[in-house]
Amino acid sequence: MNPDAISLDNAKHLFTSGDINRMEVGTTRGLQQIHKYLFNGLYDFAGQLRTINIAKGGYFFANCLYLESTLATVESMPETSFEAIIAKYVEMNAAHPFRDGNGRATRIWLDMILKKRLGKMVDWRRIDKVHYLQAMERSPFNDLELKCLLEAHLTDRTSDSDIILKGIEQSYYYES
Ligand SMILES: Nc1ncnc2c1ncn2[C@@H]1O[C@H](COP(=O)(O)OP(=O)(O)O)[C@@H](O)[C@H]1O
Ligand SMILES: [Mg+2]
Repeated sequence: MNPDAISLDNAKHLFTSGDINRMEVGTTRGLQQIHKYLFNGLYDFAGQLRTINIAKGGYFFANCLYLESTLATVESMPETSFEAIIAKYVEMNAAHPFRDGNGRATRIWLDMILKKRLGKMVDWRRIDKVHYLQAMERSPFNDLELKCLLEAHLTDRTSDSDIILKGIEQSYYYES
């Protein structure tokens, strides 16, 4: 099996095993726990903060020299409304703590915050890859597009294994 397929199995197991309930919600440590679970044995940096600078589409993510203080600031952001939670997700994406695997790990991290605070999750099955990636590219400058896209596809069926497992497949498809 290729590494992405193994990681996809890990991500599904995170939910089917119930291990997701042992991860911290909304913290940097919680995101590291999820990343480690998805990529353990596949990336030598699984769960570890990056020590090099990286960019995508000409956009530079947080400078690794200040990554820890950037992450402390992001972690302290409120989760008191849908808007606040998406603003926090956008900042965590801009921090981009890992060399790779940020997209897949951080979408799970986002869902766990939405579930805890609002009793909702994103139904990723219904969100088109191109629309999502365009909204993410735009998000460091303006997060309105992302908020509209995600808000239109929230679900309260947070224990529905079809939504969860197909959603994870869709999340992995975004990165393929
Ligand atoms: N130009 C961009 N600006 C901001 N965020 C981006 C940009 N391009 C991609 N992203 C975000 O980064 C994620 C990909 O990061 P990456 O670390 O490669 O994760 P993965 O390996 O799971 O794909 C995308 O899912 C998207 O959320
Ligand atoms: Mg990647």
